[in-house]
Amino acid sequence: TDAERITDLIHRMTLEEKVGQMMQLDARSGDLEDLIVNKHVGSILHTSPADLPRAVDLVNTKTRLGIPLVIGDDCIHGYSFWPGATIFPEQLGMAVSWDPDKIEAVGRATAEEVSCTGVHWTFSPVLCIGRDTRWGRVGETFGEDPYLIGELASAIVRGYQGGAKVGEPLPKNAILACAKHFAGYSETQGGRDASEADLSHRKLESWFLPPFERVAKEGCGTFMLGYESIDGVPVTFNKWLLSDKLRGDWGYCGMLITDWDNVGRSVWEQHVKPDYVHAAADAVKAGNDLIMTTPQFYDGAIEAVRSGLLDESLIDAAVERILAVKFRLGLFEDPRLPDEARIASVIGSEKHQQLNLELARESVVLLRNDGALPFAAETANRIAVVGPLADDAQTQLGDWAGSSGQVNWMPDGHPRNMITTVLDGIRELAGDSCDVVYSRGANVVDLVDDPAGKFFPDGQPRPKVAVNAAVDQTLIDEAVANARESDLVVAVVGDVVQLIGESCSTATLDLLGGQNAMLDALAEVSRETGKPMVTVLISSKPQILPASIVGANDVFAKRCNNPTVGTGSILWAPSPGMQGGRAIAEIILGHVNPSGRLPITFPRHAGQLPVYYNQIRGQHGNRYADLTQDPAFAFGEGEGYTTFAYGEPTIAGGASRGDGTFATNDTVHAEITVTNTADRTGTEVVQVYINDVVTSYSWTDRELKAFHRVTLAPGECATVKFDIPVADCTIVDPDAKRIVEPGEFELLIGHSSRREDLQSVIFIVA
Ligand code: IFM
Repeated sequence: TDAERITDLIHRMTLEEKVGQMMQLDARSGDLEDLIVNKHVGSILHTSPADLPRAVDLVNTKTRLGIPLVIGDDCIHGYSFWPGATIFPEQLGMAVSWDPDKIEAVGRATAEEVSCTGVHWTFSPVLCIGRDTRWGRVGETFGEDPYLIGELASAIVRGYQGGAKVGEPLPKNAILACAKHFAGYSETQGGRDASEADLSHRKLESWFLPPFERVAKEGCGTFMLGYESIDGVPVTFNKWLLSDKLRGDWGYCGMLITDWDNVGRSVWEQHVKPDYVHAAADAVKAGNDLIMTTPQFYDGAIEAVRSGLLDESLIDAAVERILAVKFRLGLFEDPRLPDEARIASVIGSEKHQQLNLELARESVVLLRNDGALPFAAETANRIAVVGPLADDAQTQLGDWAGSSGQVNWMPDGHPRNMITTVLDGIRELAGDSCDVVYSRGANVVDLVDDPAGKFFPDGQPRPKVAVNAAVDQTLIDEAVANARESDLVVAVVGDVVQLIGESCSTATLDLLGGQNAMLDALAEVSRETGKPMVTVLISSKPQILPASIVGANDVFAKRCNNPTVGTGSILWAPSPGMQGGRAIAEIILGHVNPSGRLPITFPRHAGQLPVYYNQIRGQHGNRYADLTQDPAFAFGEGEGYTTFAYGEPTIAGGASRGDGTFATNDTVHAEITVTNTADRTGTEVVQVYINDVVTSYSWTDRELKAFHRVTLAPGECATVKFDIPVADCTIVDPDAKRIVEPGEFELLIGHSSRREDLQSVIFIVA
């Protein structure tokens, strides 16, 4: 059996071979032969496909035991490093769909594309909670809600792994998933990457651990740690988190990997370990298996065992879990080398592009419709498409898609003809009788030489860095002139790849460069002339639109008697992928009825953060004196071209007690009718929240517990049913234990997390 073969191998491995097996190194960081033959590495990442046959050959011909390598990479929303691979909307965009089936299909398609290139393992999905949107990696999350994150992450994991659970063989067209970054990485101070996280065990248990527990149950093959520290302990050394919680309470037997040089950084950057010997020993003792990109781990761990600081049996246990992964992948029999025939037929295939377009259509939120949408192109002679993001193919793809702010990962980029920008999309759909005229309107950033120096240690030129661009009045005047001549103004604004991603948090959420000035000028044209205007925000995170567009509701605006209502309609598409521009054009021109809902709250101002919907109930002073606490757009919100009427919610299922109350092991069966009251087919996302009315400890008054997408024809009515186990209606006590407190509960059901969008029905737990 595999277990016997693993035991046999471990008996035959030297200490050096076992320690090498625990190392994952960057394939670009040294001589491949040295890594494999002398360092005995068990895994490589960021490898070039051309290197893979050589790596396998080196393992087979030059290593004593021929233990195959497991190859990992960041295939975050498609196989970003492979020119021509399908790049889907980023995770936050996927989350806008609230559509687990589509997201599972994306996981499947990505696995099909990645598995044929010789890569076995993707470092995805991200299960961090996007509460502080200044954090650079918010776009990589599924948003702010633990339940939504858990459901969507489980869906993509099923897709990646072809349904295989921990311990089960992975089909040839499947890849291992990796739940990251365990846990609380997004909760760092001020949204800055990798700083200290102020997280009690209670807070972790309340919000940050549940999505991970959910994917552990789903069978996610691997977990990656975060960069942050909790209570002064970098998570890499957090025995409570890794061994007691994950492996103990949850019984997780998959493989753990650190993040980039977590072990080394504890010595040279954080200074919490005196040397690499102690760092290596403590990382193994905490429960880590693979150590990412810390070359010093090799000598450190060997010395730790030889000096008696580390028990070799802990190394054996880690190696056992690593080898188990290699057996699951069947690598001893088949190294899964690049398969040219599959590459040709699968990568970027029409089927995947179609799926990409279908998802992109669901990944756009109509935040506000002033009535101008959908716009009938046949009634127009000319459409002005304006703004720096209207034709920016690279930014539309987002982070982890060829080039990020850090490194030009993939110099060749993706073929431009695979990417449809908003300008392309509107040109394709507007028809011959309507002119589509583009003006840039503003610059976002200027790219300048990095003042930190010219070269990476390995000789790669450093990419340029972004600085705020100046307002260019000539560009604005051109845009205004274009708008005045047109029947519709589509202004496309947003962020740039240089200012998102790892180590790229932002202090503000404002639109950069000349974008606000351009929007102000266009809004004035629209108000003055009555010309319809649509603002399209393409950004990896919620950004603050100017008051001229979104309206102002701060105390100062009110005192000046100037609370504005804003101008035009607003769409948001978080890094919507290759087909994003097409999907946006289809929505603007009415070919598609938008159905996206916010998976994350839109603040009015960065100073409002945190502004997520499920905040702990506070007291009277819990607000700002100069700004409403009301967000610009709330979690779960999103409009369409259809209206829906909700009936009265009903609940049943407490029968077991005979008195209509519910026991803690009962399930609440809730039902509601939803009717499409408009004259076109539309999709509603019905959301269910639970409010535990009185709690012994401070808690929130709304937590998402279920949701369902329902598509209805004009006039059609459906009864939507939900089963909510009472055991899920928990709070967390001061000892970090999940408990159900008997008493009154409110089941809230409706269109968004806003109270006014929800209908309430009470049930009693006795
Ligand atoms: O997978 C990533 C992780 O999310 C952040 N640090 C680097 C890893 C490997 O590229």
